[in-house]
Amino acid sequence: MRIAMIGTGYVGLVSGACFSDFGHDVVCVDKDARKIDALHQGVMPIFEPGLDRLVESNVRGGRLSFTTDLAEGVAGADAVFIAVGTPSRRGDGHADLSYVFGATEEIARALTGPAVVVTKSTVPVGTGDEVERIIRETAPEAKAWVVSNPEFLREGAAIDDFKRPDRIVVGTEDEEAAEVMREIYRPLYLNKAPLLFTSRRTAELIKYAANAFLATKITFINEIADLCEAVGAEVQDVARGIGLDNRIGAKFLHAGPGYGGSCFPKDTLALLKTAEDHQSPLRIVESVVAVNDARKRAMGRKVIQALDGDVRGKTVALLGLTFKPNTDDMRDAPSISIVQALEDAGAIVRGYDPEGVEQARPLMRNVAFADSPYAAADGADAVVLVTEWDVLRALDLPRLAAAMADTVFVDLRNVYPPEEVEEAGLRWFGVGRAPRG
Ligand code: UGA
Repeated sequence: MRIAMIGTGYVGLVSGACFSDFGHDVVCVDKDARKIDALHQGVMPIFEPGLDRLVESNVRGGRLSFTTDLAEGVAGADAVFIAVGTPSRRGDGHADLSYVFGATEEIARALTGPAVVVTKSTVPVGTGDEVERIIRETAPEAKAWVVSNPEFLREGAAIDDFKRPDRIVVGTEDEEAAEVMREIYRPLYLNKAPLLFTSRRTAELIKYAANAFLATKITFINEIADLCEAVGAEVQDVARGIGLDNRIGAKFLHAGPGYGGSCFPKDTLALLKTAEDHQSPLRIVESVVAVNDARKRAMGRKVIQALDGDVRGKTVALLGLTFKPNTDDMRDAPSISIVQALEDAGAIVRGYDPEGVEQARPLMRNVAFADSPYAAADGADAVVLVTEWDVLRALDLPRLAAAMADTVFVDLRNVYPPEEVEEAGLRWFGVGRAPRG
């Protein structure tokens, strides 16, 4: 199949590279000439483990190429994927669809033969109808089927998620379009990944419902974590105790500082807007959004309490700043709210992150960044583990303790057993666990 991928962001680049790895002929298109130039030189615009090697081998194999020229990419394509950004619209939280609609117009003008136009970006219910209308208006003669095919990739595990998906959702009721999509996904289908055909609107809603449900699951266990602290119970055991029930499932039950990233915060808000527009309120999702927002800042207060309620002039080292490990993405990272809360209370904040410093710098102007966790801890009154990067999972705690001025260790991801922390001479504080006597 010949595939044009419009947009070389997270979803577009990973999907394009993986499709080419399946043997399809893929052209990735982006307006940003710097990005395309960099890709020509093998430089990835995002940090995603394994992506550079995947791109390189498929470029070498002649199946993957990059261009800024949309018409050139779209000409002769069997399928054109729209994978451009859908940020939150400033002011009202609705998904901003201007990039999607702009790309659609250009695609319509560039179509040379029958093609499936696929929305892969996360787009609100009804967007496919609008994309179809734009194509009909711009190029009345073009033969195009508009299909929704949402993506369920996680940053940091995107290639594996693409190649071993739990399911592939395809929103179309047209048999010809379904046939093209079946052909594109045949390698996965052979691996028995369920290919779920639904109506277009249903597929669009599945994506939002999935993210909102996962955000709800995390927020649920986070509130249970607070209750555990209050009653002297252990949240990890509660998570295991409920997660072993197949109906609940063990995943996404790790209590922490609240969810962040480019997807859950944005998609939950956009779903609430859709619900509001259709007078069909989603009270649970509303609560999830509010509880998660409050939680991020509450984590700052937790650190302040660990330091006996006063951080004025004290130094706090935050380890792990990105919203989760294996990404350089800082969007809506809990660390941002924690820094804010600590600085508002007069603390001096230091930070360490293996990949996120460049993105963190403009968001945390007063934070001093260190090259190692131990350098960050040097002379600090408290160390806070915010994001569970692998390099932060096996810290030399006695070395950390020796570098610090005081002994507070706040583990917001419950990585370390409290006894181990205490043996190193530190005072342990965690999430959702009985306070230590
Ligand atoms: C999420 C979904 O998991 C993907 O399926 C979806 O495709 C993607 O959004 C998207 O819409 O594009 P992602 O945002 O990359 O993926 O990251 P997750 O691994 O889901 O983590 C999101 C946040 O939840 C992180 O801040 C993480 O620390 C937090 N989290 C996750 C928890 O606090 N506890 C958990 O048990 C799991």
